[in-house]
Amino acid sequence: MIKVMTIFGTRPEAIKMAPLVKALEADAQIESIVCVTAQHREMLDQVLELFQITPKHDLNIMAKGQTLSDITSRVLKGIESVLKSETPDLILVHGDTTTTFAGALAAFYAQIPVGHVEAGLRSHNIYSPFPEEMNRSLTSRIAVMHFAATEGNVVNLKNEGVDETLIVKTGNTVIDALKMVIKEDYRFEDDVLNQMDYERYKTILLTAHRRENLGEPMENIFGAIRAIVDRNEGIQVIFPIHLNPAVRAIANKHLKDVERIHMIEPLDYEPFANLQAKVDIILTDSGGIQEEAPALGKPVVVLRTETERPEAVEAGTVIIAGVDKNAIIELTEKLLLDESAYLKMAEAVNPYGDGKACLRIVDAIKAQFSYKL
Ligand code: UD1
Ligand code: UDP
Repeated sequence: MIKVMTIFGTRPEAIKMAPLVKALEADAQIESIVCVTAQHREMLDQVLELFQITPKHDLNIMAKGQTLSDITSRVLKGIESVLKSETPDLILVHGDTTTTFAGALAAFYAQIPVGHVEAGLRSHNIYSPFPEEMNRSLTSRIAVMHFAATEGNVVNLKNEGVDETLIVKTGNTVIDALKMVIKEDYRFEDDVLNQMDYERYKTILLTAHRRENLGEPMENIFGAIRAIVDRNEGIQVIFPIHLNPAVRAIANKHLKDVERIHMIEPLDYEPFANLQAKVDIILTDSGGIQEEAPALGKPVVVLRTETERPEAVEAGTVIIAGVDKNAIIELTEKLLLDESAYLKMAEAVNPYGDGKACLRIVDAIKAQFSYKL
């Protein structure tokens, strides 16, 4: 058996690793172990419950107001003892969070090979997204198996000198996850979401949480949302708000108790994914949503100055608004009030894979460790 330990800690990692954990568990030649850092607590647990994943190890590190050094040091120290007791053949980490980087570093210190899922995304600006661009670049230096979602990601890795034979193009596992939860005629458990009038109002789904947007950029974003709703009686907003208290403070200042702005708690992945399919447009600074929404034919206005996901921009379903208040208002109103502009962007395209990324990753792992089988 090949002993594979998957390490993750935040909501997006959990969503994108869940189908992979399921695929590893289903393979008779693999012993799959899950270690969560719980860099996120509630938002991680939502995903574990949905996909019925029971971690063998839970470092439970989350603290209110945690700094990057707090997360890094707690993950590093916590994983050290887990690796000592488990001695896996391979560690899998995902993407670009601090759990990802610290998990990879802990594995390196234990001289255990690392596979990096969703490898090769680059904005080429080390401070944006911060600290994610550095986290993923450093993880690439440590990894010996690179699972890249797109050809562009493969090229980024090759340009940095990664040996071509160590890269496998797989598609993004987020499409695997999306296919597991999207349902025709989905009914929300929360009746408020069922009863909202999606015919009478154009509906914006909003999410925002990035560290580099905290402060003035986020003030601009929420100020723009408030202005859009004030100026347009036919527009409503649904905003499942991230649990980060720093985000909540700015959001409450601009958006609390405003008519047609529905601030709600973070949704479980299944209702959130199905809500993406129901609304008219999505405004977000999230990475994962830029990959999901194009597959669902929903235009995305990105509330960041750049993206490491150029495939969806090239396909025409994602547009970068930046964090300037007027630019956000202008782009959003154009999309919602000009039908031809909307239809041009509302095409379902999916540059991120066919939903079989996890099987390709499992096959590549088995080929790499075939001597153990
Ligand atoms: C983290 C990742 C980011 C990822 C994002 C996804 C880092 C540095 N950042 O950012 O890459 O895009 O997750 O959401 O790895 N909190 C809770 N409960 C939760 C989750 C968060 O209370 O379930 C609160 C805590 O007070 C915590 C704060 O949110 O201290 C911030 O969480 P943290 O993981 O440090 O940063 P994020 O901004 O969530
Ligand atoms: N998501 C969710 N519930 C919500 C908001 C988002 O399940 O209330 C999902 C979303 O579909 C996507 C992922 O969370 O798969 C994105 O996570 P997040 O925005 O926290 O992080 P990022 O993608 O920016 O790293």
